[in-house]
Amino acid sequence: MSQLFARKPMADLQPGPEGPQSLKRVLGAGDLIMLAIGAVIGAGIFGAIGTAAAGQIGPSGEVIRYGAGPALVFSFLLLGAACALAALCYAELAAMIPQAGSAYAYSYATLGELVAWIIGWDLILEYAVGNVAVAISWGDYFTTLMRGVGLQFPAFLTTGYRTALLSSDPAVHGLIDTAPHVAGVPVLVNVPAFGIVMLITWLLLRGARESSTANNVMVVIKLLALGLFIAVGLMNIHPENYHPFAPNGFTGIHQGAAIVFFAYIGFDAISTAAEETRDPQRNLPRGILGGLAICTVIYVIVGAVLTGMVPYQQLAVADPLARALQLIGYAGAGWIVALGAAVSMSAVLLVFQYGQPRIFFSMARDGLLPQWAARVDQRTRVPYTTTLITGIVVALASLIGDAAETYDLTNIGTLFAFALVCAGVLVLRVKEPERERPFRVPFVWVVAPLGAAACLFVMVGLPHEAWVRFGVWLVIGAVLYASYGYRNSRLHRRSV
Ligand code: ALA
Repeated sequence: MSQLFARKPMADLQPGPEGPQSLKRVLGAGDLIMLAIGAVIGAGIFGAIGTAAAGQIGPSGEVIRYGAGPALVFSFLLLGAACALAALCYAELAAMIPQAGSAYAYSYATLGELVAWIIGWDLILEYAVGNVAVAISWGDYFTTLMRGVGLQFPAFLTTGYRTALLSSDPAVHGLIDTAPHVAGVPVLVNVPAFGIVMLITWLLLRGARESSTANNVMVVIKLLALGLFIAVGLMNIHPENYHPFAPNGFTGIHQGAAIVFFAYIGFDAISTAAEETRDPQRNLPRGILGGLAICTVIYVIVGAVLTGMVPYQQLAVADPLARALQLIGYAGAGWIVALGAAVSMSAVLLVFQYGQPRIFFSMARDGLLPQWAARVDQRTRVPYTTTLITGIVVALASLIGDAAETYDLTNIGTLFAFALVCAGVLVLRVKEPERERPFRVPFVWVVAPLGAAACLFVMVGLPHEAWVRFGVWLVIGAVLYASYGYRNSRLHRRSV
């Protein structure tokens, strides 16, 4: 029992000297803000925003979720506030415990080994499973873009099996019968989604500095694309589209927020770069809070412009921003924004494919995962085994998976991690009040409980299946911990 709640000593969590088995410190505050924008602006604002505004109708006409309508700006503000509270807590812990394991490492020091394992396991939902959704969304945009230049791929090579199976669109569902069959199994694979994940993995294996430079270029492109959208949109606002403002009242704002929360995920991901950051105590809080603030402002503006351009009911599509531009007669601008969307999502994929292996790396270093997962390449100093395995698994899941199915699971897992980070700050304030805190959450006894409560509140807006799947995921994690991590934990062995 005592092992389950054993806390890793803070002294073990301080930045050590650089060595051949450590990661390389190359990133500054500016790089971190760029990484945050790289991770945050992607499938959420270019894709999920449409469902958040318009709602979601099931195959037999039933309402699965209510949309926020033009009141979407309130969903964004609500989320911005909830994320800001969590971000403050992240900043305090990230500056105190600058470790690649992010929330996993913080909870090891605050809430004990069992909770740390749960968080590490839970973060797979945020990073790896989230990336499956982003890769599939990327594939959709890529296919649309190619069609725009006259290149049409066969549908069975751009549609994953799960997408066809779950679709209420007869043309897509029918692919199960019309696709070529091998040994009685329909060949339904999303080759573009698979390809982009493998390409990103290759890039990451080359090293952190190279990856960060590629990210910076992609961030500039995504900001230009959103700038173009806002500029054209602002000239085409029709005030009548703002009536009714909140067609489904607070339920719509709440359920819309639960979907579009996906758009905010990622500001926390830069904490996994802690061991590759120069002066992490100062730069991590700046990167996390700066990145979140910039993205919140952009989202509120995009939400207000989008719902003013076209009636919100027309936004229930996979590419709402590009579609809105087409609907008001700017097809060329729509194509450019779609291109920006594809680039944006590549950056998201990059940062999350970057983060996941570092969490595994951290967990393996602590003995909760096998030792080979903690190996670092001598030359590039990248955790190559976990980078490669994460890449292959995410690529394979993207090949046959469905985006919608994975969005909710990612959201619930991430919100849970945020809530635990908020709790962790308080625990550490009580247990180690004297410890040096380079960054302190102001009014922590208000901010942290409110942050945790806000995350739980957004979680409540998610559908029932998301909760069931999340429960199943946690049970699988508990079984793995009982059969491996519990015995092999380095902390445990040391005490024995
Ligand atoms: N926030 C990221 C996105 O929207 C995950 O794609």
